[in-house]
Amino acid sequence: MTTAAAQVNAPAYVKNTRLIAWVAEMAALTQPKDIYWCDGTTEEYDRLCAQLVAAGSFKKLNPELRPNSYLAITDPSDVARVEDRTFICSDRKEDAGPTNNWCEPAEMRAKLQTGEGALFKGCMKGRTMYVVPFSMGPLGSNIAHIGVELSDSAYVAVNMKLMTRMGKGVIDVLGTDGEFVPCMHTVGAPLEAGQKDTAWPCNPTVKYIVHYPATREIWSYGSGYGGNALLGKKCFALRIASTMGREQGWLAEHMLLLGVTNPQGQKFHVAAAFPSACGKTNFSMLIPPEGYNGWKVTTIGDDIAWIKPGADGKLYAINPEAGYFGVAPGTNTLTNLNCMNSLHRDVIFTNVALTDDGDVWWESMTDTPPAHLIDWQGKDWTPQIAKETGAKAAHPNARFTVAATNNPALDPEWDNPAGVAIDAFIFGGRRSTTVPLVTEARDWTEGVYMAATMGSETTAAAFGAQGVVRRDPFAMLPFMGYNMSDYFQHWLNVGAKLQAAGHKVPPVYCVNWFRKGADGKFVWPGYGENMRVLEWILGRIGGTAKGTENAFGLSPNYEDINWHGLNFSKEQFQSVIGVDKAAWTQELKLHEELFQQLSYHLPAEMPATKAKIEQRLAA
Ligand code: GTP
Ligand code: SPV
Ligand code: MN
Repeated sequence: MTTAAAQVNAPAYVKNTRLIAWVAEMAALTQPKDIYWCDGTTEEYDRLCAQLVAAGSFKKLNPELRPNSYLAITDPSDVARVEDRTFICSDRKEDAGPTNNWCEPAEMRAKLQTGEGALFKGCMKGRTMYVVPFSMGPLGSNIAHIGVELSDSAYVAVNMKLMTRMGKGVIDVLGTDGEFVPCMHTVGAPLEAGQKDTAWPCNPTVKYIVHYPATREIWSYGSGYGGNALLGKKCFALRIASTMGREQGWLAEHMLLLGVTNPQGQKFHVAAAFPSACGKTNFSMLIPPEGYNGWKVTTIGDDIAWIKPGADGKLYAINPEAGYFGVAPGTNTLTNLNCMNSLHRDVIFTNVALTDDGDVWWESMTDTPPAHLIDWQGKDWTPQIAKETGAKAAHPNARFTVAATNNPALDPEWDNPAGVAIDAFIFGGRRSTTVPLVTEARDWTEGVYMAATMGSETTAAAFGAQGVVRRDPFAMLPFMGYNMSDYFQHWLNVGAKLQAAGHKVPPVYCVNWFRKGADGKFVWPGYGENMRVLEWILGRIGGTAKGTENAFGLSPNYEDINWHGLNFSKEQFQSVIGVDKAAWTQELKLHEELFQQLSYHLPAEMPATKAKIEQRLAA
């Protein structure tokens, strides 16, 4: 083993034979110029960042204004997740299901690894291979799982330091024979001898984000951005973890986790799923509006939750991540003060604009934009230019990477290996019409139905047309590791099992912050004001809040919501809470379309619940 370890430049503390053998095999395949094992120290982080600055990939921001922070600008072809290039390579096509791109594993392996001209052959030439060991979840927790990412991107290595528990401690937990999920990543831009590198190496035309659920492997080629490249996040913590959860009886979800404490000191925990760029980070850091004295919201996670039934029949959730990769545009001190306060220092910004004094700016960060900026494409930007050309200072999917420990509203339990017990589930899409502000499901099955049939308007978080309504079941459409219908069944099973053992399941709610008026503006003020909806939900759990049943659940009446401190008329409320019969008749046709698409293994409860809604609507 000593020679094998030396061959891959492994430090003496690396004892895992399988890991060393895998790194050696991957190095032989990808042919990096050298191999570097990340230890996860601050010293290493600073060194790699300095190296990125020297290479022109990072710009160091003005330390007086934004200490220890950097700006990265990507290639214009590499700014978001690439859903059409994302594959689930299960043995059978049916197991990937109709919502995923599928390719036979052998065929994909030939393309990536083994065939003539396979993409990973020599893909790291001229570059360093970074070995990035990471834990999703608190180190050593029995809910956590370990991954090792091999990447030829230093940007990935430093982002992984902020986003996960990364480094030597993970190797120690792995010991001699611990299990890990192998995550292969390359920007797909080998360097020939003497070839000058670019600031953002990537492959502008060829991208593959590939998952093999059977062997729990991830292979990502061609992109250096976000969920395409930080493989602990969507690839592992959702796509691979969802298949693990299905086998082992737990749930891997695209959910924020928050704690909410009322003035009596009672604390609740809420898990909420919203599609990408639909409000998870904001909701997880909510600041209650004026008048909510004694209320407090704290963040456990802002994007992903792993949820396991405990012996006491409660559902326990952890945030597998250790940082936030959040949407910058739209974030400001009025909409999300906790977030802005998280970003004062120690941040990596990607694709935002640069101010003349070496700080960052993005759309709606301040009321009055700076007089001059360098936009995310490196061009001069002024409010006048923006007016004339529509040029955005920041890319709409521009993001910040920051450690959770920077968040002033961080929940004291965020790092608890046991997790927190969930009191309610919330599902919410971005819908300018049809879907009410809040609806409570009458039971678990109706809740699963609501989540399964959720629709949302597409956003800049993924490549493709924006603002188009699509079904996004459980906000998991781009992140499902197996057949969507089997996943609905898994959710039904988790609830059924708890109930059969005499336990109560958490109530399920469907929300929509995004209904628009005739003027095209959001009617609901959103952000901190979402506290009013949260308070109603907690009131329902406590048995004090009232509501009225409608065709597909139970919603509050005007007088059931606390309006103290907000001017919101009965008419305005009606326009965000109303269930329009014609709109819902149309909506149910879209549910039917989804069920047609998902007919293989679709649980009978889905069409049965739909039939009940139709009956109530007709009554
Ligand atoms: P991902 O990181 O892509 O998963 O996104 P996310 O779900 O965490 O969304 P985030 O909280 O970053 O919000 C995305 C966008 O929605 C931002 O531009 C926000 O300003 C906006 N947004 C968030 N909450 C609300 C709300 O309550 N009302 C309105 N109108 N907009 C909101
Ligand atoms: C999302 O798109 O839901 C994100 C950003 O959280 S990414 O990490 O790129 O997937
Ligand atoms: Mn997300």
